[in-house]
Amino acid sequence: MIYLDYASTTPLNKTVMKEIKKYFYNIFANPSSLHFLGQKSLKAVDESREKIKEIINADFPNEIIFTSSATESNNLAIKGLAFLYFFRFKIKPHIISSKIEHPSILEPLKDLKNLYLIDYDLVDVDKFGVVNIDDILKKIRENTLLISIHYVNSETGTIQPIYKISEAIKIINEKRKDFKIIFHTDASQAPLTEEIDVKKLGVDMMTISSHKIYGPKGIACLFKKNNILIERLISGSNQEFSIRPSTEAVPLIVGFSKALEIVTRQRKIFRKKADSLRRYFIKKLKENKINFEINSELKLTSPKILNLFFPQKTSQEILIYLDSKKIYVSSGMACKSRSNQPSEVLSILYPNSERPFKSIRFSFGYETKKEDLDKVVNYLKKFLH
Ligand SMILES: Cc1ncc(COP(=O)(O)O)c(C=O)c1O
Repeated sequence: MIYLDYASTTPLNKTVMKEIKKYFYNIFANPSSLHFLGQKSLKAVDESREKIKEIINADFPNEIIFTSSATESNNLAIKGLAFLYFFRFKIKPHIISSKIEHPSILEPLKDLKNLYLIDYDLVDVDKFGVVNIDDILKKIRENTLLISIHYVNSETGTIQPIYKISEAIKIINEKRKDFKIIFHTDASQAPLTEEIDVKKLGVDMMTISSHKIYGPKGIACLFKKNNILIERLISGSNQEFSIRPSTEAVPLIVGFSKALEIVTRQRKIFRKKADSLRRYFIKKLKENKINFEINSELKLTSPKILNLFFPQKTSQEILIYLDSKKIYVSSGMACKSRSNQPSEVLSILYPNSERPFKSIRFSFGYETKKEDLDKVVNYLKKFLH
C-alpha cells in the first residue's frame, strides 16, 4: 500500500511503541495510588509532562493538561473560558475565530451561541487561505475574550501568521486594564514541520495532538498559561489539576511525550524531505502532462500537505480509483469524508467553483518515498488521461 494521508493520522512510531509497552503490562498502576507501583506510574506522567513543557517552552508543568483528543482540548479551551465568564463573572463573552477552523473549534462556537452564552465572529481568509490580521483587529469588541486561530490548516497546509497575530493582540492588551484578550491556537497539524514554542508564538493556549505526530491515538493536551482560568467540563477527582479529572492514560501520555520529542528532533530534516517530496510530485505530474492546479501557495504552506485540483474527475472518483490500487489519500478532513460533502475549506477559498468537488489532499510522512509518488503519478496518468 501507499499511504499519503498522514494529515488524517500517522502510524505509531516503533520507538514509541517500545517505550509504552511496559506501562500497559508492568508499570500499570494508577498514578493516584500511594504504593510504589503507583508512584512509578505517577513519575512517568510527571516526566512526560515535564518533557512536553520543555519542548513547547512553557513555564510550568501544570500548564500542560492532558485530554483525550485535539477535539477535547479545543472544546476545553473554548467552553472552559465561556462557562467561566458567563456563569461566574456574568459576562457574555465575544470570541473571534476564522471560517476555516476545524469543526472542533467551529462547532463549540455554534453550540455556545445557540445556548446564548457567547457571541462570535469568524474572519475570512485571503485567496491563499491566510487570515488577515486587520480583519481580526476590526472585529475586536470590548468584551472580546478569546481569539482562536489554527496554526496549520489540515486541508491545504496553509500556515497562519500566529506570531504576527499575537504581536497585534499584545498591543491591544497593553491598552486594556483588565479583560485581556486570550489567544489560543489549534496546532494539531503543526509539530511535524513547524516550531511550536509557545513563547515565540506568543500564545496563551495551544492544542497539540498525539496521533498526528506518530504517537498513540486517544491522547492530546491543552497548553494553558497558569494565569488563565477556565471552568472544567468534566467533574470528578483531582487529576490534571482538577481541570480534567479521570485516571491518567499513562501509556498514552508517555507515548505522546516520546512522539513529540522525536518529531521535534526530526523536524528540520522532515521539513526538507517533505518539501523535496512535494516538489518532486509536482514535477512528475507536470512531466506526465497531468492536468492539475495547486490549491495553495506553496511558500505559505507546511510541506507535508499538498492539495491538488484535478478538473477531469471528482474527488470521489479519484479516491475510489486510487483506493482500488491500495493508494490511500483524502479529499479533505478525514472526519468529514464519509459525509460525501465537498471540502469546506476549499468551498470557502474557491466559492462557486468546481474545485472543492475535484480536489485531493496528499499528505506526506516519514515513510513516504519518491518511488511511491512515481507509482501514484502513473496511476493518475492512466485514470485522468
Ligand atoms: C487542525 C485540527 N484540529 C483538530 C483536529 C481534531 O483531532 P481529533 O479528531 O483527533 O480530535 C484535527 C484532526 O484532523 C485537526 O486537523
